[in-house]
Amino acid sequence: MASLPIFLCTLLICSLSFHGISAVKYVVTVEGPPKGPNVPKDPAIERFNTVIGVPFTIKIMGQINTFIWSTILKQNTPTERKHVDTIQVFIKYFNGQEAITSDYRINVSAAFIGTYDGPMSLKWGFTSLLYHEMTHVFQWDGEKKAPRSLVEGIADYTILKANYSAPGFSKPGSGDRRDVAYDTTARFLEYCDGLVPGFVAKLNNMMRKTYDISFFKNITGKPVE
Ligand SMILES: *[C@@H]1O[C@H](CO)[C@@H](O)[C@H](O)[C@H]1NC(C)=O
Ligand SMILES: *[C@@H]1O[C@H](CO)[C@@H](O)[C@H](O)[C@H]1NC(C)=O
Ligand SMILES: *[C@@H]1O[C@H](CO)[C@@H](O)[C@H](O)[C@H]1NC(C)=O
Ligand SMILES: [Zn+2]
Repeated sequence: MASLPIFLCTLLICSLSFHGISAVKYVVTVEGPPKGPNVPKDPAIERFNTVIGVPFTIKIMGQINTFIWSTILKQNTPTERKHVDTIQVFIKYFNGQEAITSDYRINVSAAFIGTYDGPMSLKWGFTSLLYHEMTHVFQWDGEKKAPRSLVEGIADYTILKANYSAPGFSKPGSGDRRDVAYDTTARFLEYCDGLVPGFVAKLNNMMRKTYDISFFKNITGKPVE
């Protein structure tokens, strides 16, 4: 028999969230491994459906969206924001990391959901992950000219400000280079924000079309070193 690419479970639930005149639609799709007569239910997908679920995911996406625009990027008008109609989350199996975001699509690893065993709850870990990935959807990256460490650092800065940083998150002042890792860069950005309130929002706004290291000096009056 030819095997058909049928998914164990596919749920599509949409939600509209209004922020002034701008509305973003959230779509969550749960994919599983191919279905068959004797294939048992997939434990990771079951765990997603019972512990997290599509309605909870859509609810937090609206809250995270608002938090990113208002608190992190401080973009109060649609013209300042990246134009996003829809954000899609796929819970699926793929090789690689916990999640991968490309444009408005966030793919979360079913294997990550299935094996998550942190000191915090799975719901908490998933929420933290969405703060990071949704920042990628809304942030500017200088049309890909900004260094990846900075782009990732801003996404982790959102986690930090949302109080969703895991116990292992870099401590203030740790790390010896500002561009080493996600959470260390986030701490550097927090430091810059202490020098100039709204630093991250200002930097992000400058990164709309291009990126230059001098942006740091432009905002803080000090060279990045
Ligand atoms: C994410 O998953 C969707 C749906 O399966 C797929 O179309 C898309 O290519 C994936 N994105 C990446 C970056 O792998
Ligand atoms: C995070 O915690 C700090 C310190 O307790 C608090 O001031 C801040 O309002 C919290 N932020 C959020 C988004 O809950
Ligand atoms: C910072 O950048 C803005 C906009 O590009 C520019 O007008 C301004 O002169 C710059 N300021 C400094 C101190 O470099
Ligand atoms: Zn990232």
